[in-house]
Amino acid sequence: MEKSKVLIIGATGRLGYHLAQFSLQFGHPTYILIRDSSLNDPNKAQKLNFLSTAGAIPLKGPLEDENSLTEAVKQVDVVICSIPSKQALDQKLLLKVIKELGVLRRLIEAEDIPYTCICCNLFMGYLLPSLAQPGLKAPPRDKVTIFGDGNAKAVFVKDVDVAACTINAIDDPRTLNKTLYLRPQGNVYSINELVAMWENKIGRELEKIHVPEEELLLKIKESSYPDNLEMIFIYSAFVKGDHTYFDIDECGVDGTKLYPHLKFTTVNEHLDTLV
Ligand SMILES: NC(=O)c1ccc[n+]([C@@H]2O[C@H](COP(=O)([O-])OP(=O)(O)OC[C@H]3O[C@@H](n4cnc5c(N)ncnc54)[C@H](OP(=O)(O)O)[C@@H]3O)[C@@H](O)[C@H]2O)c1
Repeated sequence: MEKSKVLIIGATGRLGYHLAQFSLQFGHPTYILIRDSSLNDPNKAQKLNFLSTAGAIPLKGPLEDENSLTEAVKQVDVVICSIPSKQALDQKLLLKVIKELGVLRRLIEAEDIPYTCICCNLFMGYLLPSLAQPGLKAPPRDKVTIFGDGNAKAVFVKDVDVAACTINAIDDPRTLNKTLYLRPQGNVYSINELVAMWENKIGRELEKIHVPEEELLLKIKESSYPDNLEMIFIYSAFVKGDHTYFDIDECGVDGTKLYPHLKFTTVNEHLDTLV
């Protein structure tokens, strides 16, 4: 089967870079949309250089420019947009262009834009290194704050594993118009479990400070967005259990079951690197 042509937006980012690499590895003709400003950043320029050498076709333009978006979307069958979630609404123009062009392969069959929504939960580089402690960059070694009762379970997946799963989903009819959930067994933990695992690794018990749900909500309300983003994610994942309170129904598919050949880095393995 001919491989779908893929456009990656955000290829200089954490997730997007891995997406572009896997897309090339899987043999998809891969286009990347880049902003001029990326070229002035040595780190990003290096990533772009690597991707171009590996065969990615660079196209110029920001998400705000309809002409460059139209030119880019015209070339491909699949668009993967990997810009930060706080910029989610910046994708409105992209959706308009996709709809107007109608070039997506399966658009002929469906009235709406065909999609796969990847529900990858938290990246391991975010909140796990601090054991969900706002403002910390490394796990605490003396005291730790437990939000709510500490029992709601969150899911952490390494960005490179999210990218591998996403690229596997292209051209896979089982994922068409579905949400693909990533919930690998070794990646689902509550704060209480994370703290116990960490204490075991460092051979010391931490002092526990308990912050009830209402107090966390108040702190979120009293600070401004995006300064309160970490607390919002902690509230959603570790207090309300938004990653795990539901079973995956027929509108969704389980990425770990669809792609059993993929190996997911576990929370335990990641915490080992932080000891
Ligand atoms: N970070 C996490 O913990 C996390 C967890 C779960 C899911 N995710 C999801 O992963 C996705 C990507 O997040 P990330 O952390 O990989 O992002 P990131 O590292 O901040 O990268 C953002 C990318 O988007 C590009 N971009 C931003 N605004 C743009 C615009 N107006 N036009 C064109 N390109 C633009 C940037 O390009 P430039 O080089 O030009 O700036 C960069 O390549 C998001 O959907 C997010 O929700 C993230």
